[in-house]
Amino acid sequence: MQHNNKNLNFHFPRVVLAGMMGSGKTTVAKILAGYLDWDFIDTDRLIEGEFGKTVREIFEQKGEQFFRDLEQKLVVELGSKRFCIIATGGGMIVSEQNRRTLFDDSLVVHLNSSIQRLLERLNNVSNRPLLANKEKQEELQKIYQSRAKIYEGLPVQILADNKSSIQIAQEILFHLVNSHEVISPKKHTVHVGCNLTRELKKILENKKISSPVFILADEKFWKLAGQFYIGKLKKRSQKFDSVPILLPSSEESKSIETVNFLWEKMIEHHADRSSCLVVLGGGVLGDVGGFVASTLFRGIRLIQIPTTLLAQIDSSIGGKTGVNLGEIKNMVGTFYPAGNTLLDPLLLLTLPQREMRSGVAEMIKVALLGDKKFFEFLEKEIDSILDCKIVKLQQAVTWAAEIKVKIFEQDLFEKDGNRILLNLGHTFGHAIEVLSNYELRHGEAVAIGMVLATKLSVRMNLCQSQVLDRLTNLLLQAKLPIEISDLSKEKILSKIEKDKKRTFQQLRFVFPRDIGKAEAIVVKSIDQLMQVFDEGAKHS
Ligand SMILES: NC(=O)c1ccc[n+]([C@@H]2O[C@H](COP(=O)([O-])OP(=O)(O)OC[C@H]3O[C@@H](n4cnc5c(N)ncnc54)[C@H](O)[C@@H]3O)[C@@H](O)[C@H]2O)c1
Repeated sequence: MQHNNKNLNFHFPRVVLAGMMGSGKTTVAKILAGYLDWDFIDTDRLIEGEFGKTVREIFEQKGEQFFRDLEQKLVVELGSKRFCIIATGGGMIVSEQNRRTLFDDSLVVHLNSSIQRLLERLNNVSNRPLLANKEKQEELQKIYQSRAKIYEGLPVQILADNKSSIQIAQEILFHLVNSHEVISPKKHTVHVGCNLTRELKKILENKKISSPVFILADEKFWKLAGQFYIGKLKKRSQKFDSVPILLPSSEESKSIETVNFLWEKMIEHHADRSSCLVVLGGGVLGDVGGFVASTLFRGIRLIQIPTTLLAQIDSSIGGKTGVNLGEIKNMVGTFYPAGNTLLDPLLLLTLPQREMRSGVAEMIKVALLGDKKFFEFLEKEIDSILDCKIVKLQQAVTWAAEIKVKIFEQDLFEKDGNRILLNLGHTFGHAIEVLSNYELRHGEAVAIGMVLATKLSVRMNLCQSQVLDRLTNLLLQAKLPIEISDLSKEKILSKIEKDKKRTFQQLRFVFPRDIGKAEAIVVKSIDQLMQVFDEGAKHS
């Protein structure tokens, strides 16, 4: 499988950011340029660089008109530039001629901040020319009033006051790009693409789902982007009615008490057999929401819109739902694949780096067990993926999801096919995750688990030591842990044994055989594994 994302569409070949001084144009432009791998242009900084003086000095020494002439000259030079984000000086777009040149073929965005917010930002910044000698608030108001008609007439208006620069950049991307690809057209359709609200709307309309639609959302994500995302849906369809249910995503939420709460909440809002539950969150809500959807009225419609990288490429695909029972993870659950799963990389932009890395661990896992080329791709592109470079991120999400879809479609119930291979690193990982009191993220525990499994594989002569070297290098490059110092192997193995006894399950471990190849092997006893560890320790 090779992905080049020909289908990533840009509605415009460049973005022009306008707004008052202090509205955050430069910061947002830099972030956007980073996501897109486009050029970043700050017109004030360019002029300063060329003229060898700050904007304030130019104003003071040469006067405003002189500066405006420099601006105009620069605008002409920028006229033909494409694939760039331009942060304009606050007054640059007052000139009609500048507007005509700059706005042609551009997504033009106004970052609209209140005067109060502008003041907060401008506090302590002394090199802003028009504010130097005057009472700041009054002056700002005056400047804004003189430009209000132009600013407020710009095509995209973003209320910037209570949003981080990343949220603003994300909102702009929703106006700029879109893509859509169906990677699993069967009964359980998996869509990948940027900006998928149009597809979501179609799905909700086609299925004649009863109203309201239930939206189980991660409360953190809801504030950051979820409300905006669902708001887009409302704009697209007047008839759309929804009941959002917000929950925190901690492992404690994956409990039968949460399930009970959700059943009751949905019944209270007149859920029926044609109801639909949309899960908008990470793996925790995906697992618990999937379980609720699979059991309420013996199964209602389920749409998964995962918002963490881990959930996009792993937990939302394949239909494993469930909750923890005491300290045993995922003990109670069902197989219930969502009718539609929508993987939208744009939703990941607000995700903290640690969560991104946790997801990358699962990406490395599917590459290690099933696709050498993907492993090589990750070795090359891991930094771009972690930096959320959209093209690479979409490529990686698509690729990883395809591997998972292929495996799960052949063996939905994890019976006699290859699905067991997806547990690579997980027997150790689950034990480590619990023993760390969930201080470690799921993917971090899996990373350590994969290293342990690969070490064993090398010691049992099932694979060559280069596999372990490449795996650890890649994990380290992704800043993932490869060992846990305060947990001994004895502790981890005895936790695995205890869980095995309580669940009467066979111990099947997945061992890498090569990059892109793994095998599940029944291990008779924990002692056998301990012996291999001890042998290895003697020789190392
Ligand atoms: N069902 C399966 O096949 C399967 C597979 C792997 C893992 N899992 C389960 O998944 C769970 C872990 O999932 P996870 O890693 O997604 O964790 P999570 O759901 O706890 O989310 C991680 C954190 O990210 C926050 N968050 C979510 N989306 C965000 C966004 N876009 N921006 C900012 N913050 C955001 C959440 O509030 C939370 O704090 C574990 O319980 C694990 O057992 C299930």
